[in-house]
Amino acid sequence: MSVVLLLVPALTQQPVTVKTFMRALEAVQLQPLVDEFNQTHHHIRLEIVEGPNETNQVEDLYTSSFLLGNSPYDLVYMDIVWVPKFAAAGWLMPLDDRISTEELEPFIQADVKGGSYQKKLYRMPFRSDAGMLYYRTDLLEKAGKEPPDTFEELISISADLQNKGLIPWGYVWQGKQYEGLVAMFVEILEGFGAFWVDPETLEVGLDKPEATKAVEFLRTTIERKVSPPGVTTYAEEETRLLFQNGQVLFLRNWPYIVGLASQPNSPIRGKFALKPMISSLGQNSGACLGGWGFGIAKTTKHPEAAWEVIKFFSREDILRKFILATGYVPSRLSLFNDPEIVAKYSHYPQLLEVVKKSVLRPPISQYAQASDILQRYLSAALTQRMTPEQAMKAAAEETRRLLAKRT
Ligand code: GLC
Repeated sequence: MSVVLLLVPALTQQPVTVKTFMRALEAVQLQPLVDEFNQTHHHIRLEIVEGPNETNQVEDLYTSSFLLGNSPYDLVYMDIVWVPKFAAAGWLMPLDDRISTEELEPFIQADVKGGSYQKKLYRMPFRSDAGMLYYRTDLLEKAGKEPPDTFEELISISADLQNKGLIPWGYVWQGKQYEGLVAMFVEILEGFGAFWVDPETLEVGLDKPEATKAVEFLRTTIERKVSPPGVTTYAEEETRLLFQNGQVLFLRNWPYIVGLASQPNSPIRGKFALKPMISSLGQNSGACLGGWGFGIAKTTKHPEAAWEVIKFFSREDILRKFILATGYVPSRLSLFNDPEIVAKYSHYPQLLEVVKKSVLRPPISQYAQASDILQRYLSAALTQRMTPEQAMKAAAEETRRLLAKRT
């Protein structure tokens, strides 16, 4: 009898499983930390399910799991642009009673703001992100050129080095019809003094002449053969591989490139650098603010265990390990000047300045639809199916109709 009684507690002390879902590339990079978590928290088992590598595909899969009910995910690993939609739909638990304003102070405030909706926090920042311009230092040196400060210089330097036979292509950017296209495009808009949607007034700026100029600039890169024709089908990884394989002089991408392109087998190891995104002559430049963090699904049966996981990933020592291993952008301010990180990645203090000056994609609850509209028309203009003017006019009108609808 006593044997049975002794066995009962042992059998019921199974660890609680906390499940999350994320892009495959990042799931692999996070695995060492997941292992560390599981080794040090015997009462919880953290499990990552790997998804596709594109943010909007992962967003769609989370969305269907919430709409169907019974979502298998306890933790939601979220892109900054999903927060208003997920929060407005009631799919997330507010985190405010778990963390104080003082405890959030060490984090980049734009990330905290990006994780909030109607003054409540729904996403704890983990890693930040900001678009950058990469260039080949060896080739520019060979040609006696400085890195460009303007879009106009970028085109002329590219054409010059291509004509000299120093490099097959001048510039690659994310031109495929997906979220990465609009993330890149907000930087071009900013660089021409244009805007997409003002989140306060809901004014739409896409049919203003400056916005058309932004589209024309991207088209020019293709027409002048500075960018390869295939650029309209490239996401982040395709552009990274071209740059890393030594096929291109300039690249627009996120800071994760540094870690991968600096590995011993990279043909451009030690031959590239990065600088803040540039602009058209006389205009201001701006990086697009990206980034990822954790929220708790409203439907989870294990909110306490999910919060334990979030607390673990928010620790400074854990984030430092992740940044050192991957070269991603930290969400904690102290790490940009951390001696160990700066010894490995000397550009981090500069990165902080870029992140501080970054541009948000409009934080509105209809963001996914607004982005979809812009992706469609921008892609039509880039692939010559519409003129830049026609495309931006249509995109602006459809966006205005969307924002006028009361949802
Ligand atoms: C990066 C950014 C994210 C953005 C995505 C676009 O992952 O962090 O915010 O939406 O790229 O592809």
